[in-house]
Amino acid sequence: MSFRIGIIGCGAIGNVHADTAHASGLEVAGTWDLIPDRVSSIAERFPGCTAHASVDALLASDIDAVAVAVSNRCHRECAIAALQAGKHVLLEKPMATTVAECDEIIAAHAASDRVLQLGLVCRGAPVSLAVKRYIDAGRFGRIYHAKCAFYRRRGIPGLGGWFTTKAESGGGPLIDLGVHVLDLAMYLTGSDRPTRASGHAVACFGSPIADYKFTSMWSGPPKLEGVFDVEDGAVALVRFADGMTLELNVTWAANLPEGTHPNGITLLGEKAGCHFDVFGDRLDIATEDEGMIADITPYYADDRNNKNVAWMNQYRQFIEAVEEGTTPHADGAAGRRVQSVIDAIYRSSEAGCEVEVEA
Ligand SMILES: NC(=O)c1ccc[n+]([C@@H]2O[C@H](COP(=O)([O-])OP(=O)(O)OC[C@H]3O[C@@H](n4cnc5c(N)ncnc54)[C@H](O)[C@@H]3O)[C@@H](O)[C@H]2O)c1
Repeated sequence: MSFRIGIIGCGAIGNVHADTAHASGLEVAGTWDLIPDRVSSIAERFPGCTAHASVDALLASDIDAVAVAVSNRCHRECAIAALQAGKHVLLEKPMATTVAECDEIIAAHAASDRVLQLGLVCRGAPVSLAVKRYIDAGRFGRIYHAKCAFYRRRGIPGLGGWFTTKAESGGGPLIDLGVHVLDLAMYLTGSDRPTRASGHAVACFGSPIADYKFTSMWSGPPKLEGVFDVEDGAVALVRFADGMTLELNVTWAANLPEGTHPNGITLLGEKAGCHFDVFGDRLDIATEDEGMIADITPYYADDRNNKNVAWMNQYRQFIEAVEEGTTPHADGAAGRRVQSVIDAIYRSSEAGCEVEVEA
């Protein structure tokens, strides 16, 4: 069975949704964005796809599902409107900009009989699937520490635009990049009860906008008269009810010498530990074998560093959930959990001390 999907938010990632939905056998049937050119630019690429004049028109049309890929502040309103209109929702990360907003989405979902899946795409990366297999088979034993790093050296996205305007984005790299690695570490380890967090967020590079030297500018170019009132780097230590600790480092910009700070997740378990970059092509495991210390580098997939595989897996799960009425693992609770950690890190940074993570 195939179904019809609409795209709400036709920017960079809305296009990836449209392409992946199409490649997954769905019919991209309608589009909506606040910017008219963007509505038509996706619609024109897919035969039979309607460029709608409003979100209401899209939601009133004959579609079964929507992908919500708008700026973070609008996740809540778009997801709730879609659920109330009886559409299944694939909602981009972060779920929203605060836990309170996540709760509103969860309530709207509970009142519907539709699927709500979060765009926690890293869960479907080939290396994530490989690590999960090892963990589920008990090969790591109890995992007592996770170290998560997502560094960009000079990669503030859309400087001056919605990404760097707190009221629109909810924050900087912590909510933008941190959400991926925080969620993935909690998902893989099964440590799903974060209790306390201590964090610090800094802003060193984005202002003044005209002086910022960069190597990449997702969602650019820089808007010289725009706003930069979010962090461009954050560190945190998160404690979990089961004793696990998680260390987080995220930057959109930092003076890190090239090649000295690998991105990715390090998991330390009592029987084995590993390091991997979510979109890298290598998984390194340290363990013991027959009484000897052993390093293992498994050849875990043909498409090892293929982001596209993660996206296709994300859509495969969404389609499965819609068709079979199942709950996807990247559900509202997962989206809320990672948001609760992010909220706590921001609160901790403001308070200058460790704080409780909202349950
Ligand atoms: N999964 C990933 O790896 C990944 C990567 C990048 C971005 N994202 C997420 O995708 C979302 C979009 O990011 P992007 O990089 O595509 O940004 P973008 O700026 O390229 O696109 C966002 C689009 O949303 C539109 N928009 C904003 N509010 C709207 C509303 N209320 N109704 C309709 N359209 C609206 C804007 O006009 C814009 O075209 C963000 O939530 C971001 O966090 C996810």
